[in-house]
Amino acid sequence: MNAPKIVVIGSINMDLVTSSPRFPQPGETLLGTGFNQYMGGKGANQAVAAARLGAHVSLIGAVGADHFGQVLLDNLKKERVNTDAVRIIQDQPSGLANITVAEGDNHIVVVSGANFSLTPSDVEQEEQRIASADVVMAQLETPLDTVIASAKLAKKHGKPFILNPAPAQKLPQELVALTGLLTPNAYELAISLGLSENLTPEEMLQQSPCQVVMTLGSKGALFTDESGAQHRQPSFKVTPVDTTGAGDTFNGALAVFLNQGLHEAVKKACAAAALSVTRPGAQSGMPVYKELAAFLKQAV
Ligand code: RIB
Repeated sequence: MNAPKIVVIGSINMDLVTSSPRFPQPGETLLGTGFNQYMGGKGANQAVAAARLGAHVSLIGAVGADHFGQVLLDNLKKERVNTDAVRIIQDQPSGLANITVAEGDNHIVVVSGANFSLTPSDVEQEEQRIASADVVMAQLETPLDTVIASAKLAKKHGKPFILNPAPAQKLPQELVALTGLLTPNAYELAISLGLSENLTPEEMLQQSPCQVVMTLGSKGALFTDESGAQHRQPSFKVTPVDTTGAGDTFNGALAVFLNQGLHEAVKKACAAAALSVTRPGAQSGMPVYKELAAFLKQAV
């Protein structure tokens, strides 16, 4: 495989994960069954997913000058993610995610901390990195202005810009116009573009002004090609243990295999995401290239 260069602009969080037999009701106290601390953040997760699959990855992000910040940075380096463009913010804590895993699903509350200190000028300083990338990607756990600055630089240098619009928020027209590929789930697409949640996924894609790859969880993915025609990629059957980070694995893999054409990239992204949910934690389940290739071979 020709290893692509990928620049990720995004968040870096410490995930504090509680396992529970079910989700608590408001006001209820539940006895949980376990607690773990994992490396997370949508930006870091996407960067690690892509690096594990063999890409050369740089992350533009921010952590606090605290213990978690150091642990998060060490982990990224161990995963072969270039952290030269990760800022250390003195007066903010590192990003934290409070995650409950139950009933085969998760609830996540993110406290952004240092991630929200990442400015447009931090990204502009890394213009050369973006200019020499094959793919640029971002999510919405850093300030919107910073995401827009990233999309503008990707456009200026003719690089594909993948935007994973999570956590969901209404996107400004300007950002939609700058986005090459939008990678939401159905809920995120409705919120991002102000569409009715009652539309079918196919109807939502028809009404989208940009190219979309919509993740459908256990139903795979639905996507539009450059001509606007819709295609469906079925999911790969696995027994899920923890779905945290499945979308991030999908996005990382999509970026890595984009140069093989969208159909192949979406298929491999679905396979990588399926593998990722078979192990706990956002990053621990992400496959390396060999595992993905072996999984795809036996899945045919
Ligand atoms: O997508 C999963 C990620 O969302 C977690 O790792 C958590 O940190 C939040 O950013």
